[in-house]
Amino acid sequence: MTDDHDPVASPSERPVRRPFVDLAPPTTARGDDALASLLFDALDAAAEGVVEHDVPHGFHSWPAGMPPAVAATILDGLVDVDGQKGGGVVDPFSGGGTVGLEAVLHRRPFLGVDLNPLSARVGAVRTHRRSPGEADQFKAVVDAVVERSKRRVRERVRVRAEVPDDVAAAYAPHVLPELAGLLEEVAAVDGDEHRRTLAVVFSSILTKVSRRRGDTARLGGDDGADEKRVGRFFASEFFGAKAHELCRRQVALFARVGPAAPKPRFVVDDARRLPALLPPAWGRRAALVLTSPPYGGTYDYARHHAHRLAWLGLDAERFSRDEIGARRRRDRGPATFDAEVAAVLAAVSDSLADDGLAVLLMGDGELAGQRVPADGQLERLARGAGLSVVAVASAPRLDWRGGPARQEHLVALRRVHR
Ligand SMILES: C[S@@+](CC[C@H](N)C(=O)[O-])C[C@H]1O[C@@H](n2cnc3c(N)ncnc32)[C@H](O)[C@@H]1O
Repeated sequence: MTDDHDPVASPSERPVRRPFVDLAPPTTARGDDALASLLFDALDAAAEGVVEHDVPHGFHSWPAGMPPAVAATILDGLVDVDGQKGGGVVDPFSGGGTVGLEAVLHRRPFLGVDLNPLSARVGAVRTHRRSPGEADQFKAVVDAVVERSKRRVRERVRVRAEVPDDVAAAYAPHVLPELAGLLEEVAAVDGDEHRRTLAVVFSSILTKVSRRRGDTARLGGDDGADEKRVGRFFASEFFGAKAHELCRRQVALFARVGPAAPKPRFVVDDARRLPALLPPAWGRRAALVLTSPPYGGTYDYARHHAHRLAWLGLDAERFSRDEIGARRRRDRGPATFDAEVAAVLAAVSDSLADDGLAVLLMGDGELAGQRVPADGQLERLARGAGLSVVAVASAPRLDWRGGPARQEHLVALRRVHR
């Protein structure tokens, strides 16, 4: 999985190819021959590196995002291995929307669910297709917002940042009002789609313009230890560069799939309610559930995105309460996490078509000081949820906290026919 993979850094900084340094090549695969070898290939493709698509993969960082190569390899491979050419794809932990974007590229109907209110917004932006004509209009709007924001800075227009003090403290005293002014300009933009897109672009620049070195340092508890300088106008100009780069990629997506491919849907909800969320047009069943659930005690999405949620005025209360596997709750222990994962598996089982397939990418957890191997956990809990594990591939992952390497597993499950 990727930490903070963000190729849309700025046009000049954009990498061409970036390896997933934290994921080593897979070492084992077992179960159904064809599926096990497909899972192995998917992990292998991820370990090899990211081939930079022109599309908006990586736009807006999302910790532990599924490597696009995993989703792409599975969607490609299932055509031969499973005869799956169409049918609805669901990601009940859709995060930054990687699976949604790959589903669009594969012209599959898609539903993404995530309890983090930011997720649906990022997913919608990353999968939006913009025609060249629409792009010209969008770029004119971006340029006007950047110009007005810079004029506010030059004229020292007074503005209040509507964020809590601890969020405000993350920005230099001259950057905070520039951001608040920029956000007011975004809020004043005509047109819902433009406004929503620009709010996500705003969210995507927040770490870069803060005093912190990066999101990943924060995940490791190194918050603010290493301050950086951010110049006047940088926030506005970086925002503009990101918006133009995103637009270029949205146009590339339009060129790749055209306007007719099914439009993905992203909703803010709990993965455990998945069966109730499936579209009636699909007969309330999915052909494929492709997802990476939270790893036990590893990440903390509510805290990680707290600044972004505060700036955008998004309510994080339900997410903070019901986030699964959060690092801040490691003291809850493996039994609580088992109960959460069992409920997720039951929801997945009730959402799958009889001949459907679920593929989960999950890393070993660590709860109350105990390592919880994710493949063993899924195997233990599957049957009680009406599922059976049909294939597994595993790869070692470098652990930034040190100690023995944890494993990442791609696990394929099918419904048990009763
Ligand atoms: C490993 S990430 C998924 C990353 C995603 N596959 C991507 O490529 O960006 C796990 C996600 O689970 C979400 N999450 C945590 N608890 C949840 C819950 N109860 N229901 C739905 N989503 C939840 C988090 O917000 C996070 O986005």
